[in-house]
Amino acid sequence: MTNITAATRKKPLLEALTWKFFDFEDYLFEKRHGLDLGGIIAANELMSSDRHPVAHASAYHAVWCRNLRELFAEAERTGAAFDNFIDLGSGKGKACFYAHMRKPFSKIVGVELSEKLNIIANHNLAKFRSGSASNIFFSSIDATEFDLPETSNLIFMFNPFDDVILRKFVSRNLEHFRKGTSMIAYANDVHRATLDELGFSTVFRNPRRKLSLHCYR
Ligand SMILES: C[S@@+](CC[C@H](N)C(=O)[O-])C[C@H]1O[C@@H](n2cnc3c(N)ncnc32)[C@H](O)[C@@H]1O
Repeated sequence: MTNITAATRKKPLLEALTWKFFDFEDYLFEKRHGLDLGGIIAANELMSSDRHPVAHASAYHAVWCRNLRELFAEAERTGAAFDNFIDLGSGKGKACFYAHMRKPFSKIVGVELSEKLNIIANHNLAKFRSGSASNIFFSSIDATEFDLPETSNLIFMFNPFDDVILRKFVSRNLEHFRKGTSMIAYANDVHRATLDELGFSTVFRNPRRKLSLHCYR
């Protein structure tokens, strides 16, 4: 009994320390590049429910660099190569900046519903730009209206929206997915069952971190 109690206490403490470590890496990333990436901001503070599907949107919260690193490594392990990186629900742009530092993508596109966040992402881009980030583009558009570039894309999502929006996005881009050249990298993959249902197969999953990669079958 004593052992079980000690073990259950120990695990959350260890996990809490691990989280602090991930947060610290992210703090350094933000400071090093002079970016504003912080905060957790509810969707209803970011956009108007008259014009936007707020009820289907997640709060803004930036992904851990650590999780992106794992998804990039696993995507590479599949042997696939990608021309572009697309962040659906790009917020203040963190994943796009991190992708730029890690991989030579031709184009890096952030797709963000909130105009407020998109303005911050573009401010970040102006600060980040060092003459070499001209391949990053942020666009203030609903993911359901976004057409994927024709070539190969690594499409990243950090739980940006619910299954209703996910279905609409996939259905709009179904012809593209059928070509089999693109992959979805999903962090906090709450709606991964929807991807299965829509015809994707899971090529990687880390259940502990809720990270996964999905290809159209
Ligand atoms: C959890 S945040 C992720 C931010 C960013 N990807 C990152 O990792 O730093 C999810 C973002 O998705 C955006 N979002 C929600 N619904 C959307 C939609 N339909 N189209 C585009 N972006 C959306 C939210 O405004 C929010 O900024």
